[in-house]
Amino acid sequence: MRKVAAALVGILLLVSNIGSAQEYKPRDFSHLIGTPGFSDQLLQMHFKLYQGYVTNTNALLNLLKSYEGNTQAYQYQALKRRFGWEFDGMRLHELYFENLGGKKELDKGSPLNKAIERDFGSFENWKKDFIATGLMRGIGWSILYFDPLAKRLVNVWINEHDVGHLATGQPILVMDVWEHAYITQYGLDRAKYIDAFFNTINWEVVADRYSK
Ligand SMILES: [Fe+2]
Repeated sequence: MRKVAAALVGILLLVSNIGSAQEYKPRDFSHLIGTPGFSDQLLQMHFKLYQGYVTNTNALLNLLKSYEGNTQAYQYQALKRRFGWEFDGMRLHELYFENLGGKKELDKGSPLNKAIERDFGSFENWKKDFIATGLMRGIGWSILYFDPLAKRLVNVWINEHDVGHLATGQPILVMDVWEHAYITQYGLDRAKYIDAFFNTINWEVVADRYSK
């Protein structure tokens, strides 16, 4: 009887979702409060900013819908061009918060560590290049990407949120280097913030992304 009821609920949920796209919902990363090197004020502000991207991604999709039948309008096309910026702003923050809050180093025997050593010569070489990428002038992200077609890792600079992503690439480690990610705590000392970031990378999450 219970199985029948569960199946009916499943069918009802399925039917109710047909024809209506799901709204994006902000994820809760409050477990990160208390992370060493990241003040409560910095994290709370960053969560709020992330939630803004989720809100704006939904708002933009709704606005675009209102231009159905009027897609030659300049406004429609301008909004369409904006979508990647809001969406990537949302998704990159989720990947970033996910890969924070760790207490252990990367397992030396993990497939990720072996791949880093294969593609960069050593973990230290990779780290040096990842940090150099993150220290580049401008606002954006440093991302360790996996190229699944060539089966190799590469460090990539993302300008703002949406410029420079690798088609088919899989983000493995994501570091926010917009000024809002550190300036309230570290001023202009981005290198010090990057040190704090490296001290709290959640390598289990990162290694798992690579294994998948
Ligand atoms: Fe950010």
